[in-house]
Amino acid sequence: MIELRSVEKVYKRGSEELHALKGIDLDIGKGEFISIVGPSGAGKSSLLHILGCLDRPTSGAVRFDGTNVEHMTGPGLDEIRRRKIGFVFQQFYLMPGLSVFDNVALPRIFSKAPADKEHILSLVDMVGLKGRVAHLPSQLSGGEMQRVAIARALANSPEIVLADEPTGNLDTENSEMIFSLLESLSRRGFTVVMVTHNNELAGRTGRTITLRDGRIKF
Ligand SMILES: Nc1ncnc2c1ncn2[C@@H]1O[C@H](COP(=O)(O)OP(=O)(O)O)[C@@H](O)[C@H]1O
Ligand SMILES: [Mg+2]
Repeated sequence: MIELRSVEKVYKRGSEELHALKGIDLDIGKGEFISIVGPSGAGKSSLLHILGCLDRPTSGAVRFDGTNVEHMTGPGLDEIRRRKIGFVFQQFYLMPGLSVFDNVALPRIFSKAPADKEHILSLVDMVGLKGRVAHLPSQLSGGEMQRVAIARALANSPEIVLADEPTGNLDTENSEMIFSLLESLSRRGFTVVMVTHNNELAGRTGRTITLRDGRIKF
C-alpha cells in the first residue's frame, strides 16, 4: 500500500544541513498495525510526515497504491492526504472554541464535503464520547481529547491512520485506552502506524520498526 525506496530527508538551516533520514526502504501493507520506536531525534516524526504526505523526501521514492507521490505538490498531494490519511498528534490540536462534534466534523469542511451528521455522531460514539458531543475541549480529560482527535482523523474515511506519540501526554490508563482504540481500528481494516516511546505498547503491534540516527535498525 505504501512503499518507500531509498528515502532521504535533509533539513537545511542556513548553511547547515541535517540528515534526518538516511536511506529508508519500507513496505507497509494494507491493514498492518506498525509501531515506530527509537531515541529522540532518530527521525521518527520525519518518517511519519513523509508517510502521511505532510512532507516530501529530499530524495527517494514514495508510492501510494502504486502511484509515485514524491514529486507531487499542491492540490494533487492535498487530495491524497485528505482522502487516504488521518493524522493524530501528541498535542491533540483540537480547536478550543469548537465542540466535540464540530472538531470531529472539521476535516469534512476542509474537504468541501458536507458534514453528514449521522456519520460524525457515529465516529463520536465509536470513540466512546456520545455523552460529550456538545462539550468543549477544555471540559475534557487528556484521554478524551485524544479520542476526539482520533475520531477527527477518521472523518474523511481514510485508509491509513498515522499517530505521532499519541499517548505521549497521557497516563497509563488513558494510554491503554488510546492503544486499544488504535488496535480496534486495525482490526476493522485500517492501516495504523504509531510512533511511540512505550516499548510495552510497541511490542503489542504487528511489527515494530526501530529507527536510529536516520536509519532502520535490523
Ligand atoms: N523542520 C526541521 N528543520 C530542521 N531540522 C529538523 C526539522 N525537523 C526535524 N529536524 C531534525 O531532524 C532530526 C530528526 O527529527 P525528528 O524526525 O523529529 O525525530 P524524532 O521524531 O525521532 O524525535 C532531529 O535532529 C531534528 O532536530
Ligand atoms: Mg518526533
